[in-house]
Formats: sequence, structure tokens, C-alpha cells
Amino acid sequence: TVLIHRYVKKSKRWGKAIAILKEFEEKCATPTLKLKQVADAMTVEMHAGLASDGGSKLKMLISFVDNLPTGNEEGLFYALDLGGTNFRVLRVQLGGKDGVVGQEFTEVSIPPNLMVGTSHELFDYIAAELSKFVNEESEDFKVPPGRKRELGFTFSFPVKQTSISSGDLINWTKGFKIDDAVGQDVVAELRKAIERQGLDMNITALVNDTVGTLAGGRHTNKDVIAAVILGTGTNAAYVESAQAIPKWHGDLPKSGEMVINMEWGNFRSSHLPLTEYDYSLDAESLNPGEQTFEKIISGMYLGEIVRRVLYKMAEEAWFFGETVPSKLKVPFILRTPDMSAMHHDSSADLNVVKTKLKEILEISDTSLEVRKVVVALCNIVATRGARLSAAGIVGILKKLGKDTITNGEGQKNVIAMDGGLYEHYTEYRKCLENTLKELLGEGVSDSVIVEHSNDGSGTGAALLAASHSFYLDG
Ligand code: GLC
Repeated sequence: TVLIHRYVKKSKRWGKAIAILKEFEEKCATPTLKLKQVADAMTVEMHAGLASDGGSKLKMLISFVDNLPTGNEEGLFYALDLGGTNFRVLRVQLGGKDGVVGQEFTEVSIPPNLMVGTSHELFDYIAAELSKFVNEESEDFKVPPGRKRELGFTFSFPVKQTSISSGDLINWTKGFKIDDAVGQDVVAELRKAIERQGLDMNITALVNDTVGTLAGGRHTNKDVIAAVILGTGTNAAYVESAQAIPKWHGDLPKSGEMVINMEWGNFRSSHLPLTEYDYSLDAESLNPGEQTFEKIISGMYLGEIVRRVLYKMAEEAWFFGETVPSKLKVPFILRTPDMSAMHHDSSADLNVVKTKLKEILEISDTSLEVRKVVVALCNIVATRGARLSAAGIVGILKKLGKDTITNGEGQKNVIAMDGGLYEHYTEYRKCLENTLKELLGEGVSDSVIVEHSNDGSGTGAALLAASHSFYLDG
């Protein structure tokens, strides 16, 4: 009887764990109709954000990029790409029609304490690395004498630009929180830090990573109309008609166009499928109430959502035994790359899941059933994110009137895509692509192409530095 008693208790707990999983799955559901509502809401918010500053949670920031690279850009330019846990410095040789003919770069991780410290410390650290890199210039790969070095600065946070080469930080996202930098011109901050290094360099262009990716993508493919980043954070930029931007009071650009940095990570709508786990993640985050879309879609948060559900299952259903594994209590301990590795585990006994649970959460002796639940959970979280990002893209296409079959036979609409999540999380990427087809339907979906723009944001910044170079006329 003791054994039977135990068995009954155990199966009750199992039932409870499955119930938690099922409830979560239901709350995360993204049927086609819901996604269409999300896409529509995105289009509506885009209009509102373009009408006035503060008109929407979607900031729809004016990038001051009214001319995308033509393919004539030439010369050696630097780029600095800051926006995640790493930053990169690049030296890019542009060869006109031949595109990027040479490139060198270095990647440096940002010490976590600098992500929440002071502006001075962060920019000094970056400028020091930049200076080191510049000093390693070789004889045959450097700016010609008599010419100043020029830098394109990719800064992937919301910025209110005041020109192509200046702009004030609106707020931090993605785990950065450096209060004294908010409201400051980030180019001025970087320039001062560069001067403190004794380095002589012009900062010619300030761009968001989405804008850089758009520029880099357009440089190689003229059908690129928008860029999306799915990485630590998520965001999109696209080419808008200048006349469709009521809040733009400047001169009408010659091209008639303006690139808009949507900051779609901050999108929110009553149609978004949010769960108790999302609410608590948000409340405990560095930016509560902000970046709602980003918090259910992007790489910084997906693994953390999985951890939160597992935690509840451990606490309320003894999913991992009688006590809650202590590592499971640590926020952000389960990273999205680990979640992805578990999700893609194709071994019969789910060995990868077993190892990850053991190494990261110190949970040993999991049964195959338990591991299967973990994979199912990863699938729910990734599917919701991927389907919602597809809905976001459809929202942009709708805004541009490119979501239905047009007369423009053979017209291609290319979305330049970049970011680690898109690049490495295969199931996520596949789901996103399938969902786009589902939402657009045959015919239209053939004209919409998602293209991986490897590292466009760095080279894009160099290209924009070139096209806005101090040495160019006009
Ligand atoms: C965050 C930033 C945004 C950036 C995106 C992708 O959402 O606010 O500026 O483009 O992450 O890096």
C-alpha cells in the first residue's frame, strides 16, 4: 500500500505539471486570426507613431537616412557596433561597384558591470578598444595621408536623432541601465571618450542596427525594403515615403524617402498573448512596462520564460523532485542558446536535454518523460515568438500596401534579417518563415523574401559613414 500510495501521489503531481504546461500552451496560442489582429494593430500603431512623437508605444524614430547606399561608396571607413553583450569594431574597405573589398574586425565582450555603471566608464572602455584596433592598422590597409579617419557608429538603442551624426538616448533596453547617459547625445559622449584616448577620428553617422542592416542589405540587393533584427533584442526599420510622416517638419528629401527605426520591441497590443510568466518577468526586469513585444520574442528573454515555467512546475508539482532545484531560482540562468540546443535535440533519449539540465540547473536523473516536457515547453515559447515576429513583418507590409497581390508583376519585396536568434535557432526561423506564408497566402508570399544579411549592421554603418562623408560634396 505504501508503494501504491506513492504511485498515486506521483501521478497526481505529474498530472499537475502537465496541467501547468497545457494552461501555458493555451495562453500562448497564436491562431491565424489573432496574428492578423496583431499585424493590423502594428499597422495602426505605425500610423500613430508617425503622426506625432509620443503618439504611440511605437516610437517610429526618424533616422535621418534619406538616401540608402548607391554602390558608389569608396574608401576606408571604420564602424563601431554597440548593442548587445559584445561590441565590434570594424575596418571596411569599400571599392565602389565592387562593394566591400576588404574587412577586418575585432569583437569584445562588455563587462556586465559596465552595462549598469556610468556613461563615462562605458564610453571610455569602448574608445580604448577602438583606439587599440586603430593603432593596429597595417600599411596597406589604412586611411590615406591627409585624410581623417571616419566612423559609422551603430548604437542599437532608441535614439532621438537630431541629424545623421547626432542623437539623444531616449532610454536603454536589453539589460543596459546607465542612468546618466539617458537624454545625452551619444555621439558627443563617444567623441569625448575618443578624444580622451588621444585618437583623431570623425563620427560621421549614427545608426541603429536595423538601419545599418537595411543599408547593408540594400547595397547588395535593391529590392530590400525593410530590415529586422532578431537577436538579444528585436526591432525593425523600413523605407517610408517622407510625405507619409506628418511629424517630420524638415525639408522634403530629394529621394522623397526616409528610413524609419520603428523600435518595434516596444509594441504592445491587447491582442498579444501574455501569460503570468510574462507579467512577472516584466515586473522584475530593468525596464518594467517597456519592450513588451521584445520580451516575448527576442533572445534575451526566451530562455528566461522557459525557466519561469519550469520553476512553477518544480514548486507546485514537484516536477524535479521534492525540492525546487536551487539553480532554477536564478534569473536568466537558462540562456536562449541552451534552450535552442534542447529544442533541437534529436536523440532518442534526449541526451542534450539531459546534459543541459544537469550542467546548467544541476538537475540529475531526469526521466525521458520529464525531458520531453522540457522540449515541449521550449517549442511553445519559441513558436509564440516566431509567429508574432512574422505578424510584425506582415504589419509593415500592410503599411506599405505590399501585403496583397499587386500589379507589379515579378516585384520582389526583400526583408533583410539579422541577429543570433534568427541565425542560430533553426526551429524559430522555420516557424517564422512558415507563418509568413500562412499569413500572406500563396502568391503574395512568393514575392516576399527573407534574406539573411550577415553582419549588415556593421558594414551598413561604414557605408552610411561613406555616403555622409565629410569629404564628399553635397
Ligand atoms: C532593442 C533596441 C533597438 C535595437 C534592437 C535590436 O530593441 O531598443 O534599438 O534595434 O534591440 O538590437
